[in-house]
Amino acid sequence: MCGIIGYTGKEEVKEILLDALESLEYRGYDSAGIAVSDQEAEEIQIFKCAGRVSDLKRVCADEEIHAKCGIGHTRWATHGGVSNVNAHPHQVGRVTVVHNGIIENYKELAAEYRLNGQLKSETDSEVAAAVLNALYNGNPRETIYQAVSRLQGTFALVILFEDFPGRIFSIRNVSPIVATQSEEGCMLASDVTALCRFTNRYFVVPEYCLLELSEDGIALSDMQGKAVEPEYMEVNWGLNSSDKGGYPFYMEKEIMEQPEAIQNTIQNRIVDGMPDFTEDGVPDSLFVNCERVCVVACGTAMHAGLIAQSLVKSILNMHMDVELASEYMYTDPVVDEKTLVIAISQSGETIDTLEALKYARKQGARSLAIINVKGSSIARASEYVLYTDAGPEMAVASTKAYTTQLALIYLIVAKMAQVRGVWKEKQVKEYIAELKRVPSAIEKVLERRKEIHLIAKNILEAKDLFMIGRGLDYSLLLEGSLKLKEVSYIHSEAYASGELKHGPIALITNHTPVVAVVTQTRIMQKEISNIKEVQSRGARVILFIKGELLQSLRQEIEIFTLPNLRDEFMVIPASVALQLMAYYVSSDKGFDVDKPRNLAKVVTVE
Ligand code: AGP
Repeated sequence: MCGIIGYTGKEEVKEILLDALESLEYRGYDSAGIAVSDQEAEEIQIFKCAGRVSDLKRVCADEEIHAKCGIGHTRWATHGGVSNVNAHPHQVGRVTVVHNGIIENYKELAAEYRLNGQLKSETDSEVAAAVLNALYNGNPRETIYQAVSRLQGTFALVILFEDFPGRIFSIRNVSPIVATQSEEGCMLASDVTALCRFTNRYFVVPEYCLLELSEDGIALSDMQGKAVEPEYMEVNWGLNSSDKGGYPFYMEKEIMEQPEAIQNTIQNRIVDGMPDFTEDGVPDSLFVNCERVCVVACGTAMHAGLIAQSLVKSILNMHMDVELASEYMYTDPVVDEKTLVIAISQSGETIDTLEALKYARKQGARSLAIINVKGSSIARASEYVLYTDAGPEMAVASTKAYTTQLALIYLIVAKMAQVRGVWKEKQVKEYIAELKRVPSAIEKVLERRKEIHLIAKNILEAKDLFMIGRGLDYSLLLEGSLKLKEVSYIHSEAYASGELKHGPIALITNHTPVVAVVTQTRIMQKEISNIKEVQSRGARVILFIKGELLQSLRQEIEIFTLPNLRDEFMVIPASVALQLMAYYVSSDKGFDVDKPRNLAKVVTVE
């Protein structure tokens, strides 16, 4: 959470910082600010305000800012409300700071260093700036190491010292910082998205290493002052792939990109019709030697885990746990060296997932991560990684990350069935052949998106909505429901349809739309009965149904027929339909679809 940017180089810094902050805004959009180090004026100027980067742009518009070094921040509020004064950067004496993370002992530090008279904001971050200022002895390295040895919690700190114009210092614990150098200058950021328009090469700053950016280039050193060689990696996202590409919102663009994203994710991992992770360096033995499999993840990624759980159970006849990462280590998980823990995360930075993975590894578990962002913290904390090739996902509501996670899950399940001797080669090949049909099934849903838009218009006024289904349909509806609530603010609940009569049916009235998904042949009749139960209580039902199951239904409900795939794979086209429905509800209501209230894309606080 919170986006950080820093630049020093040949170019005027104002536009660079503001543009980069815009591309990082999905990490938080409560307030924004920049600090620029103007060599001629020998002072650090700060511009900040509550609100979006667009508000900050207005604040800066009339200012003559001529500087080639600066830092910026876009905030997701934790300590202290959303206000101008709580916006970053924070300046105390000769020190100016932007911070991502949480300084847990900020109250103790404020008391110990008698800072209260100096603090203007309610933030833990300003305390970090004040501690740095209190300890400042003219030597940034010594000061920074002394200060961070006192900080408890997580931090990515980016620091300007007034008497070191043109230089940016940074240090981190857990919260990410990446950096790069190009012809234009040196840059650092919370994530690679902000660097993409300059270069596709970057490195992750190692924890507790000091990063210094200046006109001489990048210097990285460890706590003893020994130089550390940055480990550069490349991101294969196009330089402009984080643009909206002509769509009004990233969410729509990202929904539309799914056929290609899935294609990219699976194509190099299918060799002679069989799943193959050789290029990823993931050995088959990982899937043979485990007795237990457990997914740790949050939100949408956890919902992808639920699909994995159903498949593992039905295809491999094997038990699999899916744990909310935030609960994992507090609920006495059963985990040992025979456990394979699969951490799923788009950003690779979700702290709950990271901590759960670290905990499982400490207990001896083997680990595999399914991640979208290369080199992210979870990717580095895991023994093995499979990257989803979804490209940057900018909308807070996850869409293409989810379906590419599912694509990898199908491949993993097929690989497990193969190497554990559950399936013969022919069966694996048939399953993989069906997976290859998924992108064109998605295309068919996307081509008919106007129909889904019409369906969405019918639920614009709903206050509450239910989604019902059984088996895989129920699991995908949990995700469909999350999607709708986060972008449209409609209260939506997904229920296993057989569970309705045990309580929730009391909430069904003729004002309650019910979205039903029916794609699973063997439980279809029961699903239809459950739909009739809610219809008889007045509910207006919107049905998403696999085309070939349609004939046995009366046509009095609003129906969208989904393209036909083997039942296991219907999750993906059905999910795309629900993503579109959520998107249209939100955009028709005039909401900022990509930046729903209170949310942030990357959740780095526990
Ligand atoms: C999805 O739409 C979300 N906004 C959210 O649930 C997200 O999936 C969750 O925070 C996990 O993020 P991650 O995949 O980056 O770990």
